Amino acid sequence: MHTSSSRTECGLVEKKHVGQNITLKGWVARRRDHGGLIFVDLRDRSGYVQVVFNESNKEALSVADDLRSEYVIEVEGKVVERSSETVNKDMPTGAYELVAAKVNILNKSKALPFMVEDNEHIDEELRLKYRYLDLRRRNMLNNLKIRHDVVLAMREFFGKSGFMEVETPLLTKNTMEGAREFLVPSRIHPKSFYSLPQSPQLYKQLLMASGLEKYFQIARCFRDEDLRADRQPEFTQLDLEMSFIKEDDIINLIENLMSYIFEKVFKLKIKTPFPRLKYEYVFDKFGSDKPDLRFDLPIHNVTKLFESTELTFIKSVLKSGGQVGALVVEKTNLTRAELDGFVNKAIELGAKGLLWVRFHEDGTFDSPVAKFLPEDFLKQVQASIPNFKAGQTLLMMAGEYKDTWTLLGRLRLALGHQFNLIDTKELNFSWVVDFPLLDYDAEEKRWVSVHHPFTSPQEGWENQQPGEMKARAYDVVLNGVELGGGSIRIHNPDIQTKVFEMLGIDKELAHQMFGFLLEAQELGFPPHGGIALGLDRFIMLMTESPSIRDVIAFPKTQRGYELMMQAPSEIDEKKLREYKLQFKK
Ligand code: AMO
Repeated sequence: MHTSSSRTECGLVEKKHVGQNITLKGWVARRRDHGGLIFVDLRDRSGYVQVVFNESNKEALSVADDLRSEYVIEVEGKVVERSSETVNKDMPTGAYELVAAKVNILNKSKALPFMVEDNEHIDEELRLKYRYLDLRRRNMLNNLKIRHDVVLAMREFFGKSGFMEVETPLLTKNTMEGAREFLVPSRIHPKSFYSLPQSPQLYKQLLMASGLEKYFQIARCFRDEDLRADRQPEFTQLDLEMSFIKEDDIINLIENLMSYIFEKVFKLKIKTPFPRLKYEYVFDKFGSDKPDLRFDLPIHNVTKLFESTELTFIKSVLKSGGQVGALVVEKTNLTRAELDGFVNKAIELGAKGLLWVRFHEDGTFDSPVAKFLPEDFLKQVQASIPNFKAGQTLLMMAGEYKDTWTLLGRLRLALGHQFNLIDTKELNFSWVVDFPLLDYDAEEKRWVSVHHPFTSPQEGWENQQPGEMKARAYDVVLNGVELGGGSIRIHNPDIQTKVFEMLGIDKELAHQMFGFLLEAQELGFPPHGGIALGLDRFIMLMTESPSIRDVIAFPKTQRGYELMMQAPSEIDEKKLREYKLQFKK
């Protein structure tokens, strides 16, 4: 932040200014009236400095009498050093103050709906309604600054690495990448709609067909899906694509990018390469494809323990091919209330129930189903779970493997937080590789892409069942958050057509929807691949923000509202007619 000749920024007042006359412009953060002596903490984007109004300048003192929080003022005066007992060590400029000679009110402010300087909890809806006030708060400004610094470092890195930034259209066509898209009615072409892109996926691939070789973009994406703390309907990706490459090239590039950003922006050295873990392994151990590896607490498959059980519900689960998974709580002497707490947590996370077995130090145990468990259950458990000790507790769920493990994964995370197993200062990066290509959607009764339909299958796929095929895809995970995902793409029209067919897109529909892609694949399309990282999610993690809303200047609520301008808004009949649209009564 620079200092112009006519204005000094508050946070930049320092020793060299002592004895000088300077002008400050900014907002009244705090005002303290000591009768005949008024102190104002003046704030601008660079920080704060104390301004003193005293009897030596009666005119300025009388204006200062009228000042209130968030008035915008211009004040001229001399910088002096504060006496040693009045130095404020919590303020970078705390050793100095400006003795006001002249003050001018540039704009007044009514009482604010919330105090900018208050660090107390402020209702988020109110913050979003008055977002410009919320952004006056230091931590919000800091989040935007970090975001800016990261984007700048990204552009530097890609510029130096021979990438070209290209903007791709926002008014486009549905790409069937998985998420529901936002539609924009066309006025000129009645009954026709543009889609807002859920990602620049097909355009970036086509840029490879045009011979660009190395593309990147800080790209805005739109997805009409259920929102959560780490999802917004409108978000930003660092998107990139390269030709003539393999998985390792993208993985190395992203590791180098991360090292560059961490060193440049956060002054941190990170450990590379990041571990590469197979999807099947991480899901089996942690019940998620984005495991938080800052703590262990793995899921144990204890199906074998129940092979000859008399417990009817587990019997029926096993009969239908289900499995039993367990988490171990190491804490001994759990109370009944604690056990009930785990059951309630599991139900809150979506489970039907949770089976617990509490072992005592002497090897005996109790459980709601104790009478169905063998006397030597501890021994049997110890044979299945290495290091299991008397005194510990087993939390178990039985059911269809994928659903059950997903729920156990959520419970694992909840326990990790509850027992403070997570070192919040750690940065834990990993790659998840060898994803399945397809996933069976039982509701729709068809195969769907785990990533998207343009992902290349791994070698040998021609001789495999759809459920066995693996994808040439990779996700990068940071502290249990999916930071990004990408893949080597299909560049051959025959393979693309076959993958479309497996997804239930027959030749005719494929040509109707993706004719341009299939044609490009017949016109010299080079092998290529890429990745996209969620920029908002990355900044959220780096600023330790509870939600991505805190790192986006003007975000939407969980219900998709923009509360400040009030969007979406109803549209009047006249406008509708222009678009040849009509709402049914
Ligand atoms: P994918 O769908 O995995 O891949 O998205 C990449 C990354 O974008 C972030 N992200 C989101 N961030 C905030 N709000 C959302 N609603 C949201 N959805 C996704 C995540 C995610 O990892 N075209 C492919 C990339 C490729 O194959 O190159 C794609 O978009 O951090």
